[in-house]
Amino acid sequence: MNTATTLQTRILPFSDENIAEAARLIAKGMVVAIPTETVYGLAGDAQNGEAVARIYEAKGRPGFNPLIVHVPDLAHAERLAVFDDRARALANAFWPGALTMVLPVRGDSGLSSLVTAGLDTVAIRVPAHRAMRALLTAADRPLAAPSANASGRISPTRADHVALSLTGRIPLIIDDNATGLGLESTIISFGPDDIHLLRPGPITAQALTAASHLPVTERRHDEAITAPGQLLSHYAPSKPVRLNVTSPAPDEYLIGFGAVAGDASLSVDGDLTQAAANLFDLLHRADAAPKPRIAIAPITDEGLGLAINDRLRRAAHQE
Ligand code: TXA
Ligand code: MG
Repeated sequence: MNTATTLQTRILPFSDENIAEAARLIAKGMVVAIPTETVYGLAGDAQNGEAVARIYEAKGRPGFNPLIVHVPDLAHAERLAVFDDRARALANAFWPGALTMVLPVRGDSGLSSLVTAGLDTVAIRVPAHRAMRALLTAADRPLAAPSANASGRISPTRADHVALSLTGRIPLIIDDNATGLGLESTIISFGPDDIHLLRPGPITAQALTAASHLPVTERRHDEAITAPGQLLSHYAPSKPVRLNVTSPAPDEYLIGFGAVAGDASLSVDGDLTQAAANLFDLLHRADAAPKPRIAIAPITDEGLGLAINDRLRRAAHQE
């Protein structure tokens, strides 16, 4: 039997004392679920291979899927990855925040190779959330943190989402209410003359271009780099999902948006920011509802709607 399945999972509110407890667990090579401004992350010491292995183990994540490393600021990031002027400009524009940059990993980074899954690049970000920032300070080391859900399941925006998929597999969940953004960070890398958008997210292509004066190219279906939630079924609920539905079948739980009311609505006002924040929560709710199938209203395909529709297409993809 896998020992990770027998752990007792405590859920503790955000406080100095509980962050100190989380940092003690991190120092011992354990993993802790902690909110960021995007989704809850499952954090472990990025320089400790066993800790990183525990992250993969708890998530049941495919071993080839590399993890995002979180640091408190740009100076710490520059100890792990090689920054050029373009990367520095975007760091200054968007950090702390929901931008992850894939950059060449430094030879002396000390990062576990499990974090990068053997690539010569590392995905790195400076989070804005008070709980993750407090843990980075208390733990005083870079933290690898994928979304705190079992691999292939919906990303968690609340402590109870984490508890649903990881209870018994991790020792501690820090609860600091719902995350603000509700969508995972935007992931980019750099081409010779452009920015590659590996995963759309809260920082839009327009915002990236405005800050860098570089064009943005979508690279989601790029070769073996196996970037982001590129596995098509990555965000899948357990039920069949049908998209762009305005009149649901009787056995479908309809997630509404704007004028399409549904059983619950992402945003009755058709507000995309609100829809993003509610997205995973409503997918969880639909998955738990008695109706055997899920239908989702059409979502405006612009701005944040592009990232939402990207997640929804993955949710709808059946293996
Ligand atoms: O908002 C977020 O980014 C959340 C919070 C917790 O920070 N984290 C998150 O991590 O979404 P995760 O592990 O669920 O997604 C990271 C994605 C993975 O799909 C992985 O394939 C990609 O980043 N990635 C990591 N390192 C990479 C690299 N060196 N090259 C290309 N893609 C990489
Ligand atoms: Mg994830």
